[in-house]
Amino acid sequence: MRTIRITGSALPGRIVTNKELEQMVETSDEWIRERTGIGERHVSVGETVVTLASEAARKALEQAGKRAEEIDLILVATCSPEQYLPCCACQVQAAVGAVNALAFDVNAACSGFLFALDTAKRYLDGKRYQKALVIGAEILSKIMDWEDRSTCVLFGDGAGAAVLSVCEGEEGIRSMVQGSDGARGMVLRCDNRPVNNPFQKNETGHSYVSMNGQEVYKFAVRTVPDAIEKAVEEAGFSMDEIDLFLLHQANYRIIEAVAKRLHQPMEKFPTNLQEYGNISAASIPILLDNVNNHGRIKQGNKIILAGFGAGLTWGATVLVW
Ligand code: ACO
Repeated sequence: MRTIRITGSALPGRIVTNKELEQMVETSDEWIRERTGIGERHVSVGETVVTLASEAARKALEQAGKRAEEIDLILVATCSPEQYLPCCACQVQAAVGAVNALAFDVNAACSGFLFALDTAKRYLDGKRYQKALVIGAEILSKIMDWEDRSTCVLFGDGAGAAVLSVCEGEEGIRSMVQGSDGARGMVLRCDNRPVNNPFQKNETGHSYVSMNGQEVYKFAVRTVPDAIEKAVEEAGFSMDEIDLFLLHQANYRIIEAVAKRLHQPMEKFPTNLQEYGNISAASIPILLDNVNNHGRIKQGNKIILAGFGAGLTWGATVLVW
């Protein structure tokens, strides 16, 4: 089996409240809280995907009592890297001194951490690799249009890391379900910078995030419960046996709708979007670190990690702690 026992997270120091956003765009604390549940978010004022990812990784390694040299794989899930090259994972490798690690990035937007976790698990299944650092890290504040009230109020910055290692017995990752639907991908997009190519006509695209919120909402409330049901069935458990559902933190109403569809009480769905907003690939590992640090996870607990996002992509995992 492959399992996560150790986690870490890092957030920028600057907190931006809904009240502050009221001064910037035509919005209100009431509207944002009612429609999303979000109260504030952390916004980078100099931190980068790599600095936050490295800090989260160091915290996880410290907690594990592991030396960076023992890590043989680093995957960073991100859709907001500062650079095309080199990838964030290689920069994290250099920053933490994990000289023996293979390192690369994964982009599946908000589902990225789950896709990276599955990729890492498959490397570990191959026996050659024993310990992986799986990280979700984003600086979404730099790909937001801060004049667009329909998106800028939703997102935040941060990073979460988990150490995946080989384990014995009943614990570990029991099932993983993932999917993609590129045909509907344009409902949530952010284009590259304009092309500077003398041989083709330049076209300016959406260089900041643009989203059809209602389409994403409908997609999420249909797809996430289905993925969770499949993952639970594959793991051989019943839904009622699941102790915790750690969902991508996009919108409190989406989480409530998923809980209702699965006939599960909201107490099983911890949230942190009130303080952090939606941090795409970093949302799930940061939430995992929060509940882990607050002692909410007991050995043997059955945990769902589930997410959805741009691509479109989605995934659900059953983990026995
Ligand atoms: N403040 C005040 N009014 C606003 C704001 C705002 N920040 N944003 C939009 N509005 C207005 C709209 O202009 C619209 O006004 P109109 O009726 O005069 O045209 C009105 O509010 C309603 O807009 P809707 O888009 O219909 O609002 P809705 O109830 O759908 O809520 C929201 C919008 C919160 C985005 C919702 O659709 C949602 O959560 N969708 C899912 C989005 C999501 O999960 N995205 C992330 C997933 S993927 C990823 O994480 C990368």
